Amino acid sequence: MNILVTGGAGYIGSHTCVELLKAGHQVVVFDNFCNSFPEAVRRVEQITGKSLTLVDGDIRDRTAIERALREHACDAVIHFAGLKAVGESVAKPLLYYDNNVVGTVRLLEPLQIRDHRPALFHRELRRIRRHAAEALRDDPEHSARRKRACRR
Ligand SMILES: NC(=O)c1ccc[n+]([C@@H]2O[C@H](COP(=O)([O-])OP(=O)(O)OC[C@H]3O[C@@H](n4cnc5c(N)ncnc54)[C@H](O)[C@@H]3O)[C@@H](O)[C@H]2O)c1
Repeated sequence: MNILVTGGAGYIGSHTCVELLKAGHQVVVFDNFCNSFPEAVRRVEQITGKSLTLVDGDIRDRTAIERALREHACDAVIHFAGLKAVGESVAKPLLYYDNNVVGTVRLLEPLQIRDHRPALFHRELRRIRRHAAEALRDDPEHSARRKRACRR
């Protein structure tokens, strides 16, 4: 899949990009680098030995989002772009509201029009849940815990 990762240069986003590339997906990072550096993305490429596309843009810029989705034929979006410093959010609530709430709405608008569904989330979650259930079934400690719980 072609996956747009907003905030892909950040802490969680860059780790996610590593896993997506390892899993064989094409990744487009969309980030304005207000709390990160393009270097993080280059390091992701070094770690994985694979290249990704980097778009310098702000999620509040609907035109830039639309262009990125169209030009890179994105099938799915994973949204990590946001501000998250507690103290700063109290000092500058409007900045946080604008960036996080308005930004998310700006991102969702073109997705709604283009009928983009976060298919990756659903599929991967189902797969992870199945793997987790299988791992727990094979774990003797888990079986013993379940038996004890049922007896209570
Ligand atoms: N770090 C954690 O432990 C943790 C835990 C739970 C949830 N989260 C949430 O996950 C998200 C990402 O967290 P993180 O720790 O990776 O933060 P981070 O600051 O490392 O990464 C956020 C990225 O988003 C980018 N960004 C911010 N506003 C943007 C905008 N308007 N347009 C484009 N890019 C923008 C920043 O430049 C940065 O690269 C946040 O919403 C955070 O609240 C983080």
